[in-house]
Amino acid sequence: MSTLLEISGLTKRFGGLTALSDVSFSASDGAITGLIGPNGAGKTTCFNLITGTLPATSGTLQFKGQDIGGLAPHRIVERGLARTFQAATTFPAATVRENILRGALLRHPLGLGAMLFGGPAARQAEQAARGTVEEVMEALDLTEHADREAGTLAYGHQKRLGVAIGLATRPALLLLDEPAAGLNPDEVDRFAIMLKEIRTRFNLSVLIVEHHMRLIMRVCDHIVVLDHGEKIAEGAPEEVRDNPKVIEAYLGAEHA
Ligand SMILES: Nc1ncnc2c1ncn2[C@@H]1O[C@H](COP(=O)(O)OP(=O)(O)OP(=O)(O)O)[C@@H](O)[C@H]1O
Ligand SMILES: [Mg+2]
Repeated sequence: MSTLLEISGLTKRFGGLTALSDVSFSASDGAITGLIGPNGAGKTTCFNLITGTLPATSGTLQFKGQDIGGLAPHRIVERGLARTFQAATTFPAATVRENILRGALLRHPLGLGAMLFGGPAARQAEQAARGTVEEVMEALDLTEHADREAGTLAYGHQKRLGVAIGLATRPALLLLDEPAAGLNPDEVDRFAIMLKEIRTRFNLSVLIVEHHMRLIMRVCDHIVVLDHGEKIAEGAPEEVRDNPKVIEAYLGAEHA
């Protein structure tokens, strides 16, 4: 498998605190890559650097062979790298369909202005975007809730909506930060199946942060483990699961 995202020597300091220290790993094209580690390990910080939300202190980020370090977040989305946030970030008063359409239009070549003021090309593009929205809703089992206000959805559906908005930008790589947090065991299992389905259907690669080990072990092709800002292990799910350093990091965190 070829490399889609390549992270090299990534470091992030917040004042005196080193949240990420010289971290290197890559995400392969077509793979589901897991990024795990105890609370405060630096996982979300890593996502913030990859998506341009925060500047790195040092290190390089390459996506599809090109440097993306220092690019604005919307430029990174345009190149095909999208994320969902650890906290739900929908527009609660807008409907599910409208929220997802916002995602679909983010990567629109004509921009929002042309969409609003018409023309045949704009109309055609809008139709394409609306088609994407319907497809994404179907894949995430949200079609029956299309016209509901996002703020009134049950928690599990809100989480899926977050994934749907990211997916609607038609990314090559989708970053998911704790998409299954707070879901019950049945919902977690369902989400695992859905994730594998959307990977195939949308020809997607995924980088996922999750504390649900059952989900991580089931869906990931490759897992990277962070602890206190450092990469302590990486490999296939079974390798990582049996790695003493990983076990110690998690047990240590539980005893603390
Ligand atoms: N904007 C910030 N300013 C200062 N410190 C920060 C900031 N963001 C994160 N940190 C610190 O960096 C460290 C790593 O945090 P991060 O949120 O990346 O961890 P995480 O692995 O995502 O944890 P969790 O599993 O709890 O979500 C923590 O010590 C955190 O307090
Ligand atoms: Mg986090």
